[in-house]
Amino acid sequence: MAIFPPPHRKESVMSESSASEARKTRIGFVGLGAMGSRMARRLLTAGYSLTVYNRTSAKAEALQANGAAVAESPRALARGVDCIFSSLADDRAVEDVYLGPDGILAAARPGTVCIDLSTIAPSTARRLAEAARARGVAVLDAPVSGSTAQAETGKLVIFVGGDEATYRGCRPLLDVLGTSSYLGASGMGATMKLVANALLGAGMQALAEAIVLGEKAGLDRDRLLDVLSETPVVAPAHKGKLENARRGVYPVAFALSLMYKDFGLIVREAVQLSVPMPVTAAAQQLCAVAHARGRREDYSAVIGLMEDLAAAGSAGAKRESVTAAH
Ligand SMILES: NC(=O)c1ccc[n+]([C@@H]2O[C@H](COP(=O)([O-])OP(=O)(O)OC[C@H]3O[C@@H](n4cnc5c(N)ncnc54)[C@H](OP(=O)(O)O)[C@@H]3O)[C@@H](O)[C@H]2O)c1
Repeated sequence: MAIFPPPHRKESVMSESSASEARKTRIGFVGLGAMGSRMARRLLTAGYSLTVYNRTSAKAEALQANGAAVAESPRALARGVDCIFSSLADDRAVEDVYLGPDGILAAARPGTVCIDLSTIAPSTARRLAEAARARGVAVLDAPVSGSTAQAETGKLVIFVGGDEATYRGCRPLLDVLGTSSYLGASGMGATMKLVANALLGAGMQALAEAIVLGEKAGLDRDRLLDVLSETPVVAPAHKGKLENARRGVYPVAFALSLMYKDFGLIVREAVQLSVPMPVTAAAQQLCAVAHARGRREDYSAVIGLMEDLAAAGSAGAKRESVTAAH
């Protein structure tokens, strides 16, 4: 299915007829969390007609105020649109939203294209694509790399799996959100995302340990963080988290609970494929500790956890002052 560029994108040179085709492309967006709300806003701002659904309905209000229609269920949304994006927490959410009795596939017309931006297991992506195909609906797995800042500015990196011609038809839409790459059949976009997040999660654990080593060895904490941010060894995705470490607060951009979920997906995939991933597995265990301790923060809170375990940094200072008071 061809998805047309929005009516007022400056760079597109469109004839009268393609512009009117564009006006006919109706988009649905399900899941208005930290990522989805920002991506949906970009599509709306780009000029597409947008209908949204979110389980917690209050999160749809801001988009509604800017002209989006609000549907009462994924099923109701699917009735009136040509292309549906979803950005949902996990496999369970994706299954509920697509396959549930009030789900998208219960009402989507043949020819509808769905683009699932959630990070889920490749096997779930394949199962979903198959169930959809049986109803004449195409699903692309299209998880994203980048966080809320990139979602807001249209600078995400999008990994796409599914039918290639469908992907090509969707390029004008995906271009509104970032740069996309086609990876192969259904599940391959999801697989690529696990590859990227193995590096994201294990890298954050390594960064946390290195910071704690420097702190406990007597380096000035602020200077350590300043100098680290200038080195090429800290990945761009982690660099922004050094400010969290400096302040000792970890406001959610990418929730620790989602990183924990992703570690589970990665390690499960590795077990199924007999791929040893000892560093990733160790990082997963530390993430499990943070999660079990109820840290409902950004995944970079593992820095605070490691400081706590080593009684270093701001956590160490806090602990020392408590000990001194007794
Ligand atoms: N945040 C990031 O930096 C980032 C970066 C790359 C990829 N991702 C991935 O992108 C996806 C979304 O992330 P996010 O940060 O936007 O998460 P989020 O803020 O927690 O939002 C999750 C969304 O899923 C919905 N949801 C959860 N369970 C549901 C269910 N059973 N039925 C219907 N809706 C359900 C939530 O609805 P409610 O509002 O009702 O809870 C919310 O809209 C995740 O797969 C995540 O791993 C995130």
